[in-house]
Amino acid sequence: MCGIVGIVGNQPVAGRLVDALRRLEYRGYDSAGVAVIENGKLDRRRAEGKLFNLERVLSDSPLDGHTGIAHTRWATHGAPTEDNAHPHFVDGVAIVHNGIIENFSELRDELIADGAKFSSQTDTEVVAQLVARELRNGVEKKAAVQSVLSRLKGAYAIALMFADDADTIMAARSGPPLAIGHGKDEMFLGSDAIALAPFTNQITYLQDGDWAILHRHGAEILDFDGNKVDRQKQISTAATFLVDKGNHRHFMEKEIYDQPEVVSHALAQYVNFNTGLVRDIASSIDFTKMPSLAISACGTAYLAGLVSKYWFERLARLPVEIDVASEFRYREIPLPAEAGALFISQSGETADTLASLRYCKDNGLNIGAVVNTVESTIARESDAIFPIMAGPEIGVASTKAFTCQLTVLAALAIGAARSRGHIDEKQEAELVHHLVEMPRMMSTVLNDIQPQIEELARELSKFKDVLYLGRGTSFPLALEGALKLKEISYIHAEGYAAGELKHGPIALIDEEMPVIVIAPHDRFFEKTVSNMQEVAARGGRIIFITDEAGAAASNLETMATIVLPNVDEIISPMIFALPIQLLAYHAAVFMGTDVDQPRNLAKSVTVE
Ligand code: M6R
Repeated sequence: MCGIVGIVGNQPVAGRLVDALRRLEYRGYDSAGVAVIENGKLDRRRAEGKLFNLERVLSDSPLDGHTGIAHTRWATHGAPTEDNAHPHFVDGVAIVHNGIIENFSELRDELIADGAKFSSQTDTEVVAQLVARELRNGVEKKAAVQSVLSRLKGAYAIALMFADDADTIMAARSGPPLAIGHGKDEMFLGSDAIALAPFTNQITYLQDGDWAILHRHGAEILDFDGNKVDRQKQISTAATFLVDKGNHRHFMEKEIYDQPEVVSHALAQYVNFNTGLVRDIASSIDFTKMPSLAISACGTAYLAGLVSKYWFERLARLPVEIDVASEFRYREIPLPAEAGALFISQSGETADTLASLRYCKDNGLNIGAVVNTVESTIARESDAIFPIMAGPEIGVASTKAFTCQLTVLAALAIGAARSRGHIDEKQEAELVHHLVEMPRMMSTVLNDIQPQIEELARELSKFKDVLYLGRGTSFPLALEGALKLKEISYIHAEGYAAGELKHGPIALIDEEMPVIVIAPHDRFFEKTVSNMQEVAARGGRIIFITDEAGAAASNLETMATIVLPNVDEIISPMIFALPIQLLAYHAAVFMGTDVDQPRNLAKSVTVE
């Protein structure tokens, strides 16, 4: 989603603002802009498309102010044109905004009736218009902004600056995150600490309902009623992460190949390598007596949760209520207060997941956050944080976060199984042994399958539709395979539980639609093979992703068979995730799409 940066600086800021925007590129955007205050006047440069367009405009026509705000826009209201790109200016007020002003149409009508002229189709401009109207009416800046904030409905983060005051940026948060960075005689503002990492590691996070006035030497933080609030300054670890593609063509490719390493970081956090058992996590969330567990998340994080449902239910005999967060938040699910709840999010800022968390919190549940960004809102609002240790994930398509989420959830499920008395120490040690083997297995698989997958992806990229099938934990994996392929290659793909094939999707089977079957040689294998036979009998082309035992046990003719090593059921979702990620990646490369920032998508979805 949109990215915000601001600097009240002591040297020219335009270049630094654009550098910071680059660190927010991963969030997804379709236009960008930067504005500064120069000699008591606002000036700006904006451009459609990627940041290099903005850089080109800036190199032809540089900006020289020491205070500025900048923005990457992910279009919601109005097309991604230069006119709609932020910053917007109204009578000496400049604004950038992330999120949605839900009552913008009513406010816009009111302003138009009052004589306002709009120069964009955005909801953002109403905020600048409202502030400018207050200032024209003689209200001083702080009071003007506070009164306008009280009129806005929706989820938003905004930054404002004023032509006649080069020592101030004002910022407000109601939903999407904002971080204040403390420098030496300079103050910074950013959508996250990663954007500010080159400038400072001293960060204060605004909480929902905070707004702030930044000056060169500090910041005043207030609530929306105007009362001063105290928010801690903390040392961010974002600066220690390298945001770099290394030798890879895309961040996604790098992140796929990072998995053996990051998964081992996750394991180190949850497994005691000396005892060979899961670390004791009972102090943070106690699975022992809870009658049920609610899990909610979006997209890939939801699918990681869906895999874990199988683990929690089978290993720990813990019933799981799971739904995508956009549904969960409104279902008014009756949840016992003794139940636990897990929210899974790479960014920790996903609006629907956060709303689901708050629903459970209001119902008195014990809340755990499985997050990558431990400084995020979801982490901060939870009783227990379970970091997934994946490091920053820049590619919009989630890969290493998925397998790290699975790793953490597997460890939690094993811990829950032990504390609930459903496995003994020997069984636990056996499961943990398989988890510990996983990074090595991942490295082997990534090295071995790459040439075959690349060739297969070339074939796959010629098709318009693809079906993915799986049973057990391979069912959520089928959904994840379809999600990955469609989001980056734009090939239409659907995932189904293999047993559902006969209940509808079989009607689609012909030689124009490859069927990717994910089937390790597990308890479900024979049944999945029967479904494959049904596909084959109708002339369907099968891409069979299985293990050595599965390949030996099936003699069906396939378009391709990808053979992985035999692994235990507990780690097969993490191992089988690798070919589906690589297949989507290489198909997208053949299709020539923007792999890391696919069209229309945002990395962090901070609005509903
Ligand atoms: O940051 P989150 O994990 O909460 O994000 C959830 C989804 O938006 C995300 O997983 C999305 O589905 C990915 N683009 C999938 O690759």
